[in-house]
Amino acid sequence: MLHFKTIIEPFRIKSVEAVKFTHREDRVKALAEAGYNLFRLHAEDVLIDLLTDSGTGAMSAAQWGAIMQGDESYAGSRSFYRFRDVVQDLTGYRHIIPTHQGRAAERILFHSVLEEGDVVPNNNHFDTTRANVEVEEAEARDLVIPEGRVPSEIHPFKGNMDLAALERTLERDGGRVPLVMVTVTNNTGGGQPVSLENLRGVRKLCDRYRKPFFLDACRFAENAYFIKTREEGQAGRTPKEIAREMFSLADGCTMSAKKDGLANIGGFLALNDDAWAERCRNLLILTEGFPTYGGLAGYDLEAVARGLEEVVEEPYLRYRIRSTEYLHERLVAAGVPVIQPAGGHAVYIDARALLAHVPPLQYPGIALANALYVEAGIRSVEIGTVMFGRQPDGTEKAPAMDLVRLAIPRRVYTQSHIDYVADRLRGYRITEGPAVLRHFTALFEPLPA
Ligand code: F0G
Repeated sequence: MLHFKTIIEPFRIKSVEAVKFTHREDRVKALAEAGYNLFRLHAEDVLIDLLTDSGTGAMSAAQWGAIMQGDESYAGSRSFYRFRDVVQDLTGYRHIIPTHQGRAAERILFHSVLEEGDVVPNNNHFDTTRANVEVEEAEARDLVIPEGRVPSEIHPFKGNMDLAALERTLERDGGRVPLVMVTVTNNTGGGQPVSLENLRGVRKLCDRYRKPFFLDACRFAENAYFIKTREEGQAGRTPKEIAREMFSLADGCTMSAKKDGLANIGGFLALNDDAWAERCRNLLILTEGFPTYGGLAGYDLEAVARGLEEVVEEPYLRYRIRSTEYLHERLVAAGVPVIQPAGGHAVYIDARALLAHVPPLQYPGIALANALYVEAGIRSVEIGTVMFGRQPDGTEKAPAMDLVRLAIPRRVYTQSHIDYVADRLRGYRITEGPAVLRHFTALFEPLPA
């Protein structure tokens, strides 16, 4: 195999979609009309859309080809068996239940197994996961390692679960814990990975306290690649081998195929326990559909099956992780405070540090994200006080961090798009100016890359 210094996109582009260029005045108007909420914009008014990496990826020609092979039979469709075989080959779980996306898998699992007053430990719950726990009147308890709560702290596996804290929870509240979850990679905490060693530690505790262990596996492949490159003794294994071991340490998973399924829609719940699976399937039929399609078209099942095969390919993962890291490096070089180190799917700006004059309850993340849109047409998302600050009792409390996430859709933007984003986050230098009262007459230029 050839090795070059520059990591190029491991694909050619066969089909393109135009982006719309807008003027600053248009964006000021669009944002006001959207009530200053970037989610409420017309996506067309966005130039570079880094709102999410979920369902926004580009599918491969092989996936589009597979879509044409979709079998739309209501029950027992060939596409279901293809999907089931791929998911089973990867995860090893006995029951494979398709759902229309990740949160449907979460709702079905939690509604089937949680009772009022229960506690679900996780490294960090994502917003939909937390909401699906809380709607069952249960507590979503975040137990990420202390390093995971400090943006500037560097740690190779900042998504790890705090095993001592998990043990305390199991010791004190074990009777109220129906399952333990770990999110790979830890989206809320900065797209940070969890090590195999840590997953083994969680497994051990779950065995000791007889608790089922589930992965929130949305970004399992990115996590596997971080393990390959950062964990001792893992460099010689393929991402798929590592992913299989990650799944083998748990008893089941929820999955949004909109991320590492490389599909625009889809997800699944996979688990070993027969009794839980039956309960979940019954609820699935009530709200999602028959167990061989779970709210998806046959062609969606084909797209996910093929996507799960492509996502563990090493050239893809190398490019994916490197391109996120590239944006991160450029922002660090420009002095932007970002979560260290780069995450798998996104770069997270520490808005609380950047806008230190804006108190958390005045939403520094919203202020920054909105400014990025107005100035550069870039859409990002606040992950902070607006997303997580509201307490179950209706009061408001600042969470550990106020972040703005720049999430990178998979296989969509090229390096020049990313350079544009980095360029817009740079400062300026003075090229010409007098020694006194320079602000009147100086000439500026944007800082070079
Ligand atoms: N778990 C995690 C860790 C997620 O990041 C998401 C979605 C879900 C579960 C729910 O999956 O969207 O298919 O229902 N995260 C997206 C994001 C929306 O922008 O990070 P879903």
